[in-house]
Amino acid sequence: MYKHTSLLRPNEAARCVTTMRSPTPSAPFVTISVTLCFILLLLCPDRLRGELGTTPNIKHIVVGRCYSYMALVDPSLRYDCEDIWRQFEEAVVRQSSCNVTVAHYRQMFEAMPQTWPCDRFLFWSKTRTLMHSYAAVTGHFWTLEDTLAGYMFNDLIWCGQDEDTGFDFSSCPTWSTCRNHPVYSLWRQASQNFAERACGNITVLLNGSIANAFNRKSMFGSVELDGLNPYSVNYVNIKVVTNLEGPFIESCRHGSILDLIQVLRSRGFRWTCTDNDQTLMILQCIQNPKQPSCQSCANSLLNRSSPI
Ligand SMILES: *[C@@H]1O[C@H](CO)[C@@H](O)[C@H](O)[C@H]1NC(C)=O
Ligand SMILES: *[C@@H]1O[C@H](CO)[C@@H](O)[C@H](O)[C@H]1NC(C)=O
Ligand SMILES: *[C@@H]1O[C@H](CO)[C@@H](O)[C@H](O)[C@H]1NC(C)=O
Ligand SMILES: *[C@@H]1O[C@H](CO)[C@@H](O)[C@H](O)[C@H]1NC(C)=O
Repeated sequence: MYKHTSLLRPNEAARCVTTMRSPTPSAPFVTISVTLCFILLLLCPDRLRGELGTTPNIKHIVVGRCYSYMALVDPSLRYDCEDIWRQFEEAVVRQSSCNVTVAHYRQMFEAMPQTWPCDRFLFWSKTRTLMHSYAAVTGHFWTLEDTLAGYMFNDLIWCGQDEDTGFDFSSCPTWSTCRNHPVYSLWRQASQNFAERACGNITVLLNGSIANAFNRKSMFGSVELDGLNPYSVNYVNIKVVTNLEGPFIESCRHGSILDLIQVLRSRGFRWTCTDNDQTLMILQCIQNPKQPSCQSCANSLLNRSSPI
């Protein structure tokens, strides 16, 4: 899933505009501050004119990533990348920009079938950064971003135009203003496909430093969980991970995780739940070794591996 954040907080934008308006003593200063503000405004277009538009050169990026996936990620696969692009374009540009449903992407997904090895599916919610290092370090897991669809569309933005048939490169609506946002619908369908194919032991990484670690409105809670098949999934292994410095809000025995466990039970899944998985803690400590909780972690590791 992608998420982009404005580089400028609203009060900074406001301060910038104030500087522009206030009378200033010398001409060079005005030029510099106007130039600076102009640059800052360019960096925060979504504050001032809605969301960013379609990612420039999207066709080259999407088709290039498709070829790259076949050549570098999984050379055993064969897809018609140009055809996938055509199906994608068809789904997006023929509709009004807030009216692209998951059904519009059906043919595109049919052009890119994929199966994944069991026991390696990793789901996550609100743990994106840690999930990336976890997947990279263990080299074991498959996330949505490792699938062809996830790989091709990761971090991109797109939408059509209401009148014209083409992408809108100047601005796209925000997710919250659309019922059927073209980006959201694609990720929703990709997430559902991913979950429906999950098999063997699957892992779910949730964030215990926030309330509602298991959120029924998240992609995991609203789409993936319902897509999991209890007959092909052996165990759902939940890992609850908090920030090293806290807050420590939810755990396997506390908060919304219990709701998740309840849902799993009622649907006949076997499950386990782990707080403070050691690998995950070590990964956090590598990024933040001065944390007190990392000292004890390091000590216990040193003590254990000590030859004497
Ligand atoms: C949205 O799509 C549906 C079905 O394709 C169509 O009937 C409807 O008129 C569209 N609405 C807008 C605002 O384009
Ligand atoms: C938990 O969520 C908060 C807020 O989104 C985030 O800042 C933090 O990095 C997350 N923690 C982990 C371990 O992913
Ligand atoms: C699946 O998970 C269960 C429970 O955590 C564990 O006992 C079992 O060894 C796991 N199997 C595989 C193949 O990872
Ligand atoms: C590890 O050894 C050090 C030095 O002997 C000791 O101070 C520390 O308490 C030990 N830590 C643990 C977790 O046993």
